[in-house]
Amino acid sequence: MRQSRDADAPRIAVARKRIVEHRHMTENAPSTKAGRGPSQEEAPVTAVPLLDLKGQYRSMKEEVDAAIKRVVDSQMFILGPEVESLEREIAAYCGCTDAVGVSSGTDALLAALMAYGIGPGHEVITAPFTFFATVGSILRVGAKPVFADIDPDTFNIDPDALKKAITSRTKAVMPVHLFGQCADMDPILAVAEDHGLVVIEDAAQAIGAHYRGRPAGSMGHVGCFSFFPSKNLGAFGDGGIVTTNDHQLAERIRVLRNQGMQPKYHHAVVGGNFRLDALQAAILRVKLTRLDGWIEARRANAAFYTRSFEETGLAGEKIIPPRVRFERHVFNQYVIRVRDRDALRDHLIANRVGTEIYYPKPVHLQECLKDFGCVEGEFPASEEASGCVLALPVYPELSLEQKRYVVSAIGQFYGE
Ligand SMILES: Cc1ncc(COP(=O)(O)O)c(C=O)c1O
Repeated sequence: MRQSRDADAPRIAVARKRIVEHRHMTENAPSTKAGRGPSQEEAPVTAVPLLDLKGQYRSMKEEVDAAIKRVVDSQMFILGPEVESLEREIAAYCGCTDAVGVSSGTDALLAALMAYGIGPGHEVITAPFTFFATVGSILRVGAKPVFADIDPDTFNIDPDALKKAITSRTKAVMPVHLFGQCADMDPILAVAEDHGLVVIEDAAQAIGAHYRGRPAGSMGHVGCFSFFPSKNLGAFGDGGIVTTNDHQLAERIRVLRNQGMQPKYHHAVVGGNFRLDALQAAILRVKLTRLDGWIEARRANAAFYTRSFEETGLAGEKIIPPRVRFERHVFNQYVIRVRDRDALRDHLIANRVGTEIYYPKPVHLQECLKDFGCVEGEFPASEEASGCVLALPVYPELSLEQKRYVVSAIGQFYGE
């Protein structure tokens, strides 16, 4: 598909002309960035990283630094009032009664599974096209992960496949809201209720996402979020939170996150050190006030790309833009499906456009799961996705020129 620059010259000229025309059409599109001055807009773009957290920090440095200072001055670093305030604020944001701050998204999943007593002899159904932590947490409690393939349109678990995977040992289902779009929760919740299954939402990538008006993390029995720095609400290190509308469950998780200790130095259950620290909570509280603005900017960036691919004729055969079935999609990642993915990625690397492949190998084919006997071809939609997905820069601070640069570099690859 890639040819030499000389051979491509006439086609590139046509493509440039189209892109210039396209620019004119989109020139008047409203900017999604508050407070971004024209000088930044006009700077020539020569590279676009996949993510630029430095720009985000600059935009709120004073407030974040003051929050850090507040914690340092207090010398209260583990749990405490900052964590409790964050828990109240996230619970309200997610439409839940309770939230429990934990040390990571992985530990949120682990603590949720532990709180329901899920372990050896139990099966937990999830999708194989996810970050490893979803499945790793099931394995760590000694339960068996059972896979159901994804809907290729949304990358999320197919409710019909999930239904077929239920056995007498199934204890829980773990739908993942991948890339920031919720799984199709209504049929999942219905089938879980019919079979008395626990629903653990892996909402690690989806804070702020909605499904038919309900927030991610509020629909199942428990929601698990990650504050990994690249998430839409990212800490300055690791962190996570569990949301629920079940006070008793929240209490169990509070005990589990602190070595199963209650009261002090008495351990009726075995927990772990899953505590969230106060510095992260204080920083996250500042960031939470901006989250909806960032989400809207991400959504506008995603809409720009999709519109550009459609208007320049790339969408369809060459590029399949993400399909939004359930608003609101929060675009933690903007993931296209493309033929010639690896060659396109090389071309974008050469043009200094940051991309990532989430995920190049589905979990059922990972080496550490070989004893479960999954074979290639068993979950075709997940395997197909692994071979063709490519995430493009979609972070909120992207300028119009940067987005145009990305679209233009992709157009150049396809000779458009
Ligand atoms: C779908 C999914 N689940 C779980 C996790 C684990 O979160 P953490 O990295 O905070 O442990 C992640 C993190 O990337 C994720 O994307």
